[in-house]
Amino acid sequence: MTDQPEIMIVNGPNLNMLGTREPHIYGHESLADVEAMCNERAAILGVAIDFRQSNFEGELVTMIQSARGAAAGIIINPAGYTHTSVAILDALRLTELPVIELHLSNPHTREDFRHRSYVSATARGIICGFGSHGYVLAVDAMARVIDAA
Ligand code: DQA
Repeated sequence: MTDQPEIMIVNGPNLNMLGTREPHIYGHESLADVEAMCNERAAILGVAIDFRQSNFEGELVTMIQSARGAAAGIIINPAGYTHTSVAILDALRLTELPVIELHLSNPHTREDFRHRSYVSATARGIICGFGSHGYVLAVDAMARVIDAA
């Protein structure tokens, strides 16, 4: 149990393969490494992290819904669903929580289909292109947004 404000970090499909998945694009750190980096930063900032991943759109929707009333903010790397999912956008909206959209790569420098994000329509801010360090930047930014920094 903790009375620290909690930030939910949601990771979409294929991010469980980080470290071995196209490392020239996504880097060599595993998702567990990234989670450790987030927890380290959170401990300094006095916030708690609820770090999740799923390959299933519906599971991600249920996960996001559960943040309502429980978390203070959501950081999300929706991965491939960034570019396709109205359901994830709707789920984020219904939580009424601040949302930071996060990508390891910079989708705007990549294929055209990655230039469109449904999630951006509800994001307070977007961090992309900084690899795994982007997660640390996002924790910093969210801590400030929820006024815990
Ligand atoms: C990603 C970018 C997406 O376009 C891609 O589908 C991913 C990862 C990123 O973190 O750079 O799976 O969200």
